[in-house]
Amino acid sequence: MSDQTPAGGPLFAPCGNLGELVKDIDQLIQKVTVMPVITTIADLKRLHKRRTPKMFYDYAESGSWTEQTFHENTSDFDQIRLRQRVAVDMTNRTTKSQMIGQDVAMPVALAPVGLTGMQCADGEIKAAKAAEKFGVPFTLSTMSICSIEDVAENTTKPFWFQVYTLKDDDFMRRLFERARAAGCSAIVITLDLQVMGQRHKDLKNGLSAPPKFTVASMADLATKWSWGLQMLGTKRRFFGNIVGHASGVSDPSSLASWTAEAFDHALDWKRVATLMEMWGGKVILKGILDVEDAKMAAELGADAIIVSNHGGRQLDGALSSIRMLPAILDAVGDKVEVHMDGGIRSGQDVLKAMALGAKGTYIGRAFVNGLGAMGEAGVTKALEVIHKELDTSMALCGKRDIHDVDRDILLVPKGFEGEWA
Ligand code: GLV
Repeated sequence: MSDQTPAGGPLFAPCGNLGELVKDIDQLIQKVTVMPVITTIADLKRLHKRRTPKMFYDYAESGSWTEQTFHENTSDFDQIRLRQRVAVDMTNRTTKSQMIGQDVAMPVALAPVGLTGMQCADGEIKAAKAAEKFGVPFTLSTMSICSIEDVAENTTKPFWFQVYTLKDDDFMRRLFERARAAGCSAIVITLDLQVMGQRHKDLKNGLSAPPKFTVASMADLATKWSWGLQMLGTKRRFFGNIVGHASGVSDPSSLASWTAEAFDHALDWKRVATLMEMWGGKVILKGILDVEDAKMAAELGADAIIVSNHGGRQLDGALSSIRMLPAILDAVGDKVEVHMDGGIRSGQDVLKAMALGAKGTYIGRAFVNGLGAMGEAGVTKALEVIHKELDTSMALCGKRDIHDVDRDILLVPKGFEGEWA
C-alpha cells in the first residue's frame, strides 16, 4: 500500500478517544431532538438538505449540464398512471422476489453512489446494514468512502460491488481480489462513465472528500454541527477503495481528478468481456440505454443489465430510463434479466417499472436522502416508505403478488416511448 494522504488541508484530523466522546454527544443530541413524522422520500430529502453540508447534498441532487435528463427521469414516471381495481381479494400479499437469483424482500436494490460516506459518517456501512436488515441488496461504489473491507467487516451477508474501470490493470486485479475476499456475490460494471458529465454545482462548491478548509465550507459546516461531530468520530473520510491502493492521480480527494486521470477512457466491449472473465462470478452491466448496447450486453452473457442514464448525471439530453425500458425489454427481455434505475422516488415508481417488465429496480438518491437525514435509521425509513407504497398500490391495482404485476395494471399514454427519428 502506498502512503497517500490527500493534499489540500482536510478539515478533520485523525482522532482517538475524541471519536467516542463525539459519538456520545451526538447520540445525546439525537435523543433530545424531536423527530418529525416521515411519510415520504421528500420528507427525508428536506432533512437531508438541512443536516448535510451543501457540497454533498448538491452532489447527490444534481444532474449534468441543464439537468433535463435528471428531471425527466422522475417526471416521465408521473406520466404513467395506475388502473384502480376493486372487489379483489387483497389478503396475503407479497413483494418478495429475486434479483439475479438472490431472494429480495422487494425488487429494490440500493444503487452504487459515490461519496456516500460523506452524506453521513460511515455512510456506506450504515446503508449496507439497513439493506441487510431489510432484505434487499446493497451495492458498494468503487468511489465509496468506506472500503470494501470496512463494509464486509460490518455486515454478515454478501453485498454487490460496483466497478469503475481504471487503466491500471494491477489495480483492477487487486480490486477484484479484494471484492472476492470480502465475499461480494456480484459485481456491477458501470459502462456509462468513462468520462464524467459536468455537474455545475460540484465545480462551484469545490467538491472534495473530505471537504477542504475554505471560508464557504466552514460557514456551511457551522450550521451542520451534527454531521461534523459524527465525522470527527470516524477515521473514514477518504476514498477508501482507492487511497492507499492506487497511484498516479494528482489530487486523490477529488472525484473529478480520479475520473479524468485514472479511468480507462478506452473501455470497450472487448475489455468488458475481459473484466467479466477476470471476475468469474455474477456480473450486472449498468448504464445501458440503447437497444443495440442491450443486445451486446446480453450476448456477452451478463446476468443482468441495468437500464440507466446514471441518474441523469452523464449524458444530459438522453431519454429517461423509464421511457427506454419498454424498447430494451422488447429486444432482450427474454435473454437477460433487465433491471432499471433513475427517477425512483416511491413504491409506485417501483410498481410501474415492474409492471412494464423489469425484474428489479435500484434507488440511489432516495436512500441517500434517508442517510443524510437520519443515518442508518433514515435508510431503513426510506425502504419502509417505498415498501409500503409498493405494497398498498399493488393491492389497490388488484394484485397480491409482485410476480403477477404486468402491463395490465398500467395506463401508459399513447406515444410514451416517443417517436424519434
Ligand atoms: C459517480 O458515480 C457520480 O455520478 O458522481
